[in-house]
Amino acid sequence: MNRRQFLAAVALSGFASACGSGAMSDPAAFRTELRVPPLLVPKVDKDGTRRFALTMQRGRSEILPGKPVETWGFNGPHLGPTIRVARGDRVRMAVTNRLDEASTVHWHGMRLPAKMDGGPHQMIEPGGTWSPHWTIDQPAATSWYHPHPHGATAEHVYRGLAGMFIIDDPAETELPAKYGIDDVPLILQDKNLAEDGSPTGDPLDGTFGILGEHMLVNGTHAPFLNVRTERVRFRILNGSNARMYHLAFADRRAFHVVGGDAGLLPAPVQVEQVSLTPGERVEVVAAFTAGEQVLLRTLSGSDDIDEGDFDLLKIVAAPRLAASPRLPSRLAGAPAPIAVPPNARVRRFQLNGHDAINRKEMDLSRIDEVVPAGATEIWEIENTVYAHNFHIHEVAFQVLDVDGEKPPAYGSGHKDTVYVPPKSTVRLAVRFGRFTDPATPYMYHCHILRHEDSGMMGQFVIVEPGTENQVPRTIATDHAHHGA
Ligand code: C2O
Ligand code: CU
Ligand code: CU
Repeated sequence: MNRRQFLAAVALSGFASACGSGAMSDPAAFRTELRVPPLLVPKVDKDGTRRFALTMQRGRSEILPGKPVETWGFNGPHLGPTIRVARGDRVRMAVTNRLDEASTVHWHGMRLPAKMDGGPHQMIEPGGTWSPHWTIDQPAATSWYHPHPHGATAEHVYRGLAGMFIIDDPAETELPAKYGIDDVPLILQDKNLAEDGSPTGDPLDGTFGILGEHMLVNGTHAPFLNVRTERVRFRILNGSNARMYHLAFADRRAFHVVGGDAGLLPAPVQVEQVSLTPGERVEVVAAFTAGEQVLLRTLSGSDDIDEGDFDLLKIVAAPRLAASPRLPSRLAGAPAPIAVPPNARVRRFQLNGHDAINRKEMDLSRIDEVVPAGATEIWEIENTVYAHNFHIHEVAFQVLDVDGEKPPAYGSGHKDTVYVPPKSTVRLAVRFGRFTDPATPYMYHCHILRHEDSGMMGQFVIVEPGTENQVPRTIATDHAHHGA
C-alpha cells in the first residue's frame, strides 16, 4: 500500500469493529497470548564489540486475529526485536533499509555522539545500510528505537517501526531480570483499524494525529499474559503517536515504580496509577497471587490525548507461583541526583500551537542552541495551548517543577521525555554529555509525533566549552545520506 492508498483507507475507519470502542471490560475477550519481542542476538567480535543487525521491512501480520494486514517492522513484519546490552559494552549496529522510502533509526534515550543518534540528519536510503557504533556508558534503563525522518516519523512509527533497547548495569542486581518471564516489555500503542484489520487514519491529521480506539500491547490486540512468579517487572513504553495513558489495575491494587526513562529511582515508589505520554517509559514491579486474573487498563483523563477507559492486558497468574526476590528498599544502580550549579544557564522554550517552538518551525539547516559539553542547565518549557510533551536527545534530566509544584515521586528520577500540560511551565535540570560536534545537531521536540513532524522541533549542538560563539548557525543538510 502506498501513502496515498494508506490515506484513502481513512475513509474505511468508520467500519472499525465493535471490540475496540470504549472499555473492554469482558476479560474473556482477552484471548491472544501477549507477544514478547525476541531478544536480538549479537555477533561478538574478537575485541568484544557486539554487532546487532536490524532490517526495516514491510510484512504482513495479524493485528486482529485471522486478519493479516500490511505492517512494517524490524527483522520481522511488525515492531522490532529487543536489544539488550550492559554498561561498558561496545556496540555496532548495521541498520538496513528494505522499505521503498528513506528513513532513519534513532536510539531514543541513548547517550552517544550526534552522528550515531539516528535523527533526521542520518537518513538511510532504500537499500542502504547505516552502521553507527558507540560504547554504552549510562545507568541501567529502558530505552527504545524508532524512525526519525523529518515529516514522516508519525507514519513510520504508526505502521509498526519501534523496538525496545534495554541497558543493564552490573551495579543493578536486585530486580527481576529474566526476560519474558519476570521482566516483561510492554509496548503500548493505539490504532484505528478498518474492518479488514488494517491500521487507518492520517497520523498528521487533526490537532494530535492518531488517537486510536484499539489498544495494542507489543502489537497484540486484547492480549493475556501468563505469569509464573510472585512479582513481575514490567518495562512499559508508550510507543503511541499521541495517546497519554493513566495506567492502573482494574482492582486498583498498589504497585511500585522502580524506574523512569533514563534510570532507576533511588527507592521504589508505591502508586495505584502512573501516567505516561508518548516516548516515556516506566519500570514497575507488580505482585500477583496464585490463580488470580487482573486487567491492566488505562483511565480516561481530561487533556484531550487521554480520552477513554481501555483495558490493555489481562494478567493470568499460574495456580502456583515461583518465589520472587523481595523488592529492595533502596535501588542499587540508580543515578545520583543532578546538581544544578547556582549560575546555571537558563534557556526558555515556548511551545506554540502544534507546530513551532519559540515561534519557529523546525529547520534542518538551522542550529537553534549551542551548549557547552558537560553543562548542567535549566530548561524552562512553557506550553501555551494544546497538550504537549518535551523530549531532548542525548541528555538525562530531572523535573524541577511543574508550575512551581514538585513532580510526583515516581516522576522525579532521571528522564528524557516529560509531559507539559496545557498552559503550564515545566522546569528541567538538564545534564548534557561530552561528545562534541559543532556540525551535527541533536534534536529536542514534542513527542506527539504529529507535532514533531509539523515542526515542533529544534536542534542543538554540543561543543567544546569556550567555542560557543565560533559555531556556525547554519549547516548543510545533505551531508549524511547513507545510500545503497
Ligand atoms: Cu523518540 Cu527525537 O525521539
Ligand atoms: Cu530521542
Ligand atoms: Cu505536541
